[in-house]
Amino acid sequence: MIWGLTMQDYVHGYSEKEKSRLFDQAGTLTELLHGDTFYPAGSSVLEAGCGVGTQTVILAKNSPDARFTSIDMSQDSVNAAEALIRQENISNVRFQVADIFNLPFEAEQFDHIFVCFVLEHLKEPVEALIRLKSVLKKGGTITVIEGDHGSTYFYPESRYALRAIQCQIDLQAKMGGNSLIGRQLFPLLKHAGFENVSVSPRMVYVDSSRPEWVEGFTKNTFTAMVEGVREQALRENLIDKAGWERGIADLYATAGEDGVFCYTFFKGLGVQEN
Ligand SMILES: C[S@@+](CC[C@H](N)C(=O)[O-])C[C@H]1O[C@@H](n2cnc3c(N)ncnc32)[C@H](O)[C@@H]1O
Repeated sequence: MIWGLTMQDYVHGYSEKEKSRLFDQAGTLTELLHGDTFYPAGSSVLEAGCGVGTQTVILAKNSPDARFTSIDMSQDSVNAAEALIRQENISNVRFQVADIFNLPFEAEQFDHIFVCFVLEHLKEPVEALIRLKSVLKKGGTITVIEGDHGSTYFYPESRYALRAIQCQIDLQAKMGGNSLIGRQLFPLLKHAGFENVSVSPRMVYVDSSRPEWVEGFTKNTFTAMVEGVREQALRENLIDKAGWERGIADLYATAGEDGVFCYTFFKGLGVQEN
């Protein structure tokens, strides 16, 4: 997924509104995405591209006796993540500003690696995975979570809503990212040289019998994300104003009494060969 407002913020998720949207997202999706991620006591885990710490809190709480090193190339994000971890009284995480493509770690330093909503932003996702693999111990695992906007379908159907979503997909592609990357996790992990690769789709299904998902996912996560690219989409003439307004209104209609919204995340697991 891509989460943000201005083009730069939009790509990296730094703005205030972005932060609160990321929190909505993580709160609603915690069980679906993280329910099966636990690291053993004493193990060292690298979280690459931790952002403002949304997933860090969940990871650290789920595995209180593992030691996390969470990195991001944005100092501002690392500062925000550090503040969040302090606020939550979590003590098993240390943060570092670092670039995935220039990792300041020794070879085979970590027992496990975790990456969430990062590959979608990168021009060279396989290269990023190869760099990460180099700091992973033999027998260690990598866990990668990504969304895929092509997995979106909903009721009432609307070609206007699909067009608005396509604007987001096109803008992310223009920036060198890929919001359809979820479906590629299997080949990406294989091409990076991981063994025993497995990918599990995690489908979000929302109707009005689950009001917290209507609010937390359909409105505050997905539709808010698409709305975030309004200015860029109009500026770049990807859509006209009337088409945009109709598309967003139709996305909100999927959060109505008879509305249904479906989206699939993909969670991939790979092992560093022994
Ligand atoms: C959409 S955010 C996801 C943050 C967090 N993983 C989450 O799921 O909430 C993507 C993050 O990846 C970081 N990032 C992008 N390229 C990076 C790189 N080459 N090295 C380190 N971090 C990077 C960005 O700074 C941003 O904080």
